[in-house]
Amino acid sequence: MMSTQIKRVAVIGSGMMGHGIAEVSALAGYEVVMVDISQDILNKALERIKWSLDKLAERGTISKEKVGEVMGRIKTSLSVAEAVKNADLMIEAVTEDIDRKKQVFSEADANAPPHAILATNTSSLPITEIASATKRPERVVGIHFFNPPVLMPLVEIIKGAQTSDEVAKRAYDFVKSLGKEPIMVNKDVPGFVVNRILVALNSAACLLVANNIYSVVEIDSAVKYRAGLPMGIFELQDFTGIDVGYLVGFAVAVRDPMLRVPCPLIEELYKKGWLGQKSGRGFYEYKGGPYERANIPREAGEKVDLVLIFAPAINMAAWLLREGIASREDIDKGVKMGLGWPKGVFEYADEFGIDKVVEALNQLYSKYNYDLFKPDPLLTQMVQEGKLGQKSGKGFYDYGATGVTEFKEIILKREPPLAWIILNRPHRLNTLTLTMLDEVSKALDMLWDDKEIRVVIIRGAGDRAFSAGADVTSFQGPLHTYYFFIYNRKFQEAVSKIERFPKPVIAAIDGYALGGGLEIAMACDFRIATERSELGQPEINLGIIPGAGGTQRLIRYVGLGRAKELIMLGDRIKADEAYRIGLVNRVVPKEKFEDEVRSFALRLAQGPPIALTYAKYAVNFGTQVPVDIGLMLEAAFFSMAVNTKDAQEGVMAFAMRRRPEFKGE
Ligand code: NAI
Repeated sequence: MMSTQIKRVAVIGSGMMGHGIAEVSALAGYEVVMVDISQDILNKALERIKWSLDKLAERGTISKEKVGEVMGRIKTSLSVAEAVKNADLMIEAVTEDIDRKKQVFSEADANAPPHAILATNTSSLPITEIASATKRPERVVGIHFFNPPVLMPLVEIIKGAQTSDEVAKRAYDFVKSLGKEPIMVNKDVPGFVVNRILVALNSAACLLVANNIYSVVEIDSAVKYRAGLPMGIFELQDFTGIDVGYLVGFAVAVRDPMLRVPCPLIEELYKKGWLGQKSGRGFYEYKGGPYERANIPREAGEKVDLVLIFAPAINMAAWLLREGIASREDIDKGVKMGLGWPKGVFEYADEFGIDKVVEALNQLYSKYNYDLFKPDPLLTQMVQEGKLGQKSGKGFYDYGATGVTEFKEIILKREPPLAWIILNRPHRLNTLTLTMLDEVSKALDMLWDDKEIRVVIIRGAGDRAFSAGADVTSFQGPLHTYYFFIYNRKFQEAVSKIERFPKPVIAAIDGYALGGGLEIAMACDFRIATERSELGQPEINLGIIPGAGGTQRLIRYVGLGRAKELIMLGDRIKADEAYRIGLVNRVVPKEKFEDEVRSFALRLAQGPPIALTYAKYAVNFGTQVPVDIGLMLEAAFFSMAVNTKDAQEGVMAFAMRRRPEFKGE
């Protein structure tokens, strides 16, 4: 929908950004005049717009008829004066050169109607200085699109020193009317919000490589596969171009000491002319041509301390927030939509723990002494107040009541959106008793419809075992077979409850998961084990057989043959073997265990809760019945899932290329 006050838009500069801005404006219904220095360049820009609109039509995003209609709304001109004469809004996207921009603005100011807003798409120049070339600095504003404007949802609105609130608001509404997601940047700081955070993220990574602490591949693998960023830090720099990074980095660094963390690696590449993908070589080599992706192995990043890498970006975000430059929500939206991060920078901070972030910053600061690494007062204050993030229930965000409920033989720890059930008999290797199982069952009841809890993790206390099995002492004594039978049924019931529990349950296995311990783990939806863990069904060695689902559930994971071998020989297997045969989902080194379990759980916690329940039930119970009934169950759950608000949100987010936010509605 068009904004009411703005109808005609002049876009000055029709290059990479300008043509895209003209296209999205015309798509939203605005009359556009595009200006450049030669008709040739303008014709090329028109061709690029036509090509892009055709692509949108091919994909069905717009109708074929609309292509002509949109093209019809775009005129061209070689004169800024002429183009702005009737414009309500000018967006300047000429070459990044302050004198050139000032010239455009002074010409526009002299010719545009008084109500017109004059905006710049600059990435690195001060809005305030550009505005000084006009007699209407209060009507000059930054509208910073991301490349390519047609696809990137995020746009930063930047207030110069004199920009009026009304003008900033109009720019904001205009961007919304394009179907884009604006964020408000209240002060004209170099790099604005998103690029400042990006520069900060790059800084520690670069220093750590330059000082041989980590390699390029190790860091890229860690941020990509462990933190979930869409590209590695160095991979992204190759993609944007080493020259662009070097020059823009330089331009913002001269204006701001906080951004002055030199990266010797970039300078070296720049001087060698290794400019990244486009020149076949940058941090990586691209032998297969410019479209080849860098080769980054998944396991390479295991030893990287992610907190150390992210801490400067978090520090920068804290500074932006404390200085009132942008809101918490806008900063997180900025990195999610502008950089494609799966989580906001503050969400990462809360997950890492604010105390850990401050520690990492101190470590960097004492070693390298750059302003950027000095912990922001906001962070140190949070640590003093005990606002440590998720683990304390409060950080940048509120995580609801965290609480520990002590039972006799388990501990229940609520840490929304996660809850931990800890089997707590460490002196007895967390062996199972009926009391313990009763308590697990009670804990599951408490969590059953707790809206804040989306994922449950079961683990063992101490550092030796998940659970080494049932307490064999409970089998002693002559007891009527019947009583053994119903006792055993009770045991089974408790374990089965995990399977019926409506939310995902993860077994976090560190150490032994034997007998009844493994049976509990198998009733969970996922198993993550440390490398040293040992799993097995050793009951046969005692002259008995598994009694809490072992004979039934094991075959579903590993097949009949392997299951019989494990049950009838009673051997223990190591975690990597368990992974190979499909008994565990992930094997991780001990030092990464907490992180991996948590990040796996948090990924699940971001999923649509209702659909996750249906998926779990369809799989767990659909496989117990004839396939036709299973399929019927699937269809029934499918139709129930389709009718949720979360499904609407999922489809909408997909169309808008943003991450969905599922509420469980
Ligand atoms: P570009 O070099 O592709 O396009 C600039 C265009 O401006 C060229 O077509 C040039 O002929 C034209 N031009 C130069 N002087 C002019 C004048 N006096 N009057 C009219 N047209 C003139 O550059 P690009 O990448 O489109 O950048 C433009 C602006 O957008 C810069 O301020 C840049 O910082 C900013 N920007 C660039 C992004 C990117 O990823 N390329 C992302 C966000 C902002």
